[in-house]
Amino acid sequence: MNLIHRLIDAFEERTGLLKLMGDLSRHPVPPDTGWWYVFGSATLVAFMIQVVTGIALSTSYISSSGDAYQALQFITTRALMGNLLRGMHYFGASAMVLLVGIHMTQVFVMGCYKYPREFNWVTGVVLLFLTLAMGFTGQLLRWDQNAVWSVVVGAEQAGRMPIVGPMLAHFLLAGKTLGGATLSRFFAFHVFFIPALIFAVVGIHLYLVMHDGISEPPVAGEPVDPATYHKKYDELIEKSGVPFWPDAAWRDVVFCLAVVIAIVALAAIFGPPKLGNPPNPSLLASDPAPDWYLLWYFALLALIPHEMTTPVILLAPLVGVIVLLIVPIVSNTGERHPRNRPWAVGAVVVIVMMIATLWVEAIRKPWSPDFTAQPLSARVVGSDTGPFADGAMLFHEKGCEYCHQIAGSGGHRGPDLSFVGDRLTKADLTIRIMNGGYNMPAYAGNLKPEQLEDLVIFLSSRKHPLATLGTATSGGK
Ligand code: HEC
Repeated sequence: MNLIHRLIDAFEERTGLLKLMGDLSRHPVPPDTGWWYVFGSATLVAFMIQVVTGIALSTSYISSSGDAYQALQFITTRALMGNLLRGMHYFGASAMVLLVGIHMTQVFVMGCYKYPREFNWVTGVVLLFLTLAMGFTGQLLRWDQNAVWSVVVGAEQAGRMPIVGPMLAHFLLAGKTLGGATLSRFFAFHVFFIPALIFAVVGIHLYLVMHDGISEPPVAGEPVDPATYHKKYDELIEKSGVPFWPDAAWRDVVFCLAVVIAIVALAAIFGPPKLGNPPNPSLLASDPAPDWYLLWYFALLALIPHEMTTPVILLAPLVGVIVLLIVPIVSNTGERHPRNRPWAVGAVVVIVMMIATLWVEAIRKPWSPDFTAQPLSARVVGSDTGPFADGAMLFHEKGCEYCHQIAGSGGHRGPDLSFVGDRLTKADLTIRIMNGGYNMPAYAGNLKPEQLEDLVIFLSSRKHPLATLGTATSGGK
């Protein structure tokens, strides 16, 4: 016992680390910070989980295009706790993205980024993009069909940038096409380069938190004025400051523990994302989609008109970065309380709703044909023999239904044709089917004249019951 004490004393005398840690953990913070302040530390804990599970996974992973897929299968099915670790790494990533998002929203809504904490917001924005970059590079390491195609799509998008585009695509793929070199490059970025950057920027981020102090909860009617801020803050801390540990930090501990338990539980219950088929560049019938946290952006690209894709790909991320970086420059003083900043709250609501809508669309996938569409029933068609029935049959057999809905059955890629008879004449229909259109194949060589006729007869019979009524009454006048 005595020896241990003497060792500790000797260590302390030479390093001063214990006192430093004690001072740091007990440094005074504003009172009543409350539960809104837990998301930053929870993000850090999620990142720590990523580091630990990531190191564990890397001990069995092989970053070679010939072996990566088998290595993942080995980790998933045979390695000790491999399935749980992969699951934790996946849900940890999800938690990190989610927590970064909530943390940023909270900081923005409560005006914590205002003077003197502008630079901390900037480092936070950098961390947001580094986190997303981790997600993107990590997905390729799965090296299955879906992962590989998502990266091809990503590189193709990067390649559209003027001037630097081709260079950037070449850099991403580590060559002209995707292959073993791409995997090595993504691996190096995912396990060395980006994490090193994250560690460094997190260090700065935390140093700034210590340097400027934790922001006091906003009070309506008390705007931030750089001339008086420090004086006021110091007075507040002097008068009613509480030690960070345990008065404020107990909430962080409780919430972080809940996050860890949730990640382990989700990993144990649902496991990691299923591995798709092994990558096969000649197999086009895959359905590349990024993991959920980038899915909404993917939906945005799929939904906008074709000619808009390039500008959106180029401008949207740029506008995002610029807007985020400009926030603390244009509004670093003034009111902090959300009650007196309706524009700030409104902006958050609009952005969250936009992402949620895109996300729902990404799951519904209206842009991709629905190959599971069943033939239309006789009840919908109105008869089971004659040209109507033959046309309805062709509508299914020729694949029209993969893209077009009639009476609620079929895909969403093309317009709903339930009442197309109201919109288009037989001639319009014929021209449309023969020539196809934007995102619709031309059927001129694919239909016999009598088949075309049956289809046109069937489609022109699809009218809204009330519309027919309308014509009937006006005709009777
Ligand atoms: C790959 C998906 C796809 C397939 C398969 C497809 N279409 Fe289309 N179709 C579309 C899209 C997308 C549009 C809208 C394009 C546009 O406005 O130029 C469209 C437009 C139409 C229109 C015009 C609708 C309107 O309201 O203006 C008709 C009619 C039509 N398709 C009929 C058919 C028929 C009949 C078939 C099968 C022989 C078929 N389509 C197969 C995607 C498809």
